[in-house]
Amino acid sequence: MSTTPDIAGHYTSGDLLARLEARLRADGIDPARPTFEALAPYDHFHGRGIEATEELVKGLEVSPTDHLLDVGSGIGGPARYFATRFDCRVSGIDLTAEFCEVARHLTARLGLSDHISFEQGDALAMPFNDAAFDGAYTMNVSMNIADKRAFFREISRVLKPGAWFRLSEIAQGPGGAPDYPTPWAQTAASSFLATPAETYANLEASGFTIESHRETTDAALAYAARSRAVVDAGGQPPHRAVMLVHGALAEAAMANTGRALKERRTVPIELVCRKTSR
Ligand SMILES: C[S@@+](CC[C@H](N)C(=O)[O-])C[C@H]1O[C@@H](n2cnc3c(N)ncnc32)[C@H](O)[C@@H]1O
Repeated sequence: MSTTPDIAGHYTSGDLLARLEARLRADGIDPARPTFEALAPYDHFHGRGIEATEELVKGLEVSPTDHLLDVGSGIGGPARYFATRFDCRVSGIDLTAEFCEVARHLTARLGLSDHISFEQGDALAMPFNDAAFDGAYTMNVSMNIADKRAFFREISRVLKPGAWFRLSEIAQGPGGAPDYPTPWAQTAASSFLATPAETYANLEASGFTIESHRETTDAALAYAARSRAVVDAGGQPPHRAVMLVHGALAEAAMANTGRALKERRTVPIELVCRKTSR
């Protein structure tokens, strides 16, 4: 029996597109013609949804000729956000084949296929040339990756010297291990959390200078409180990606995530980095 954690298996259901279309119909949206706004509650699969994606681009200058890399692109919400906002090219890579298929489908539906492509593959061995990209980002992915330095080195390899790299990640906090399942792992066997300090050291050892970093626990707790208020008032939560992807597992995964945040077992972090000019 293999002891390698089945990361893609954790994210694969086989019927994701059908379930997304059913949810859009229930929201009063024609799934054949979804809008960017209608998809946003579902296609930013990370803490605080599109709010965190908007935060990640703050102060960033991207030109329409730039080619960006989205590492662990999921079903493509962040890639479509960057391509729409900056009119640039984005290549996404993700281990989960079903996510790549759904990402391509939604991108075509929004008329963005000439700007964005999605490859199924491993972020530790990407099928891209050295120095191919003007900038890169990754959102809530490294928790699934044991060898952080190999991960960051591979991203550094495909970036041009001096290119930017931004991350929004979940780090190990001082309060102990989180309970599982979480949205990123069914059990501790496929969860690899590093502390913020380890993350900074791993980045610096892998060819990056850290320009800024911050913990976003307060923002995450405030977001959770706002979501709860909306649900208590009879509305839908603003962020529905975990429910979409994980179905029956979602309730436990979200409860564990909320508790881990409150007890500082996990700490969400945002980092702005630059590839050192080598
Ligand atoms: C929580 S989801 C985040 C998806 C996306 N970044 C977003 O924010 O919407 C984590 C993603 O990381 C991907 N992933 C995990 N390990 C990976 C690896 N070694 N290479 C590429 N993708 C990976 C998973 O398939 C999944 O799509």
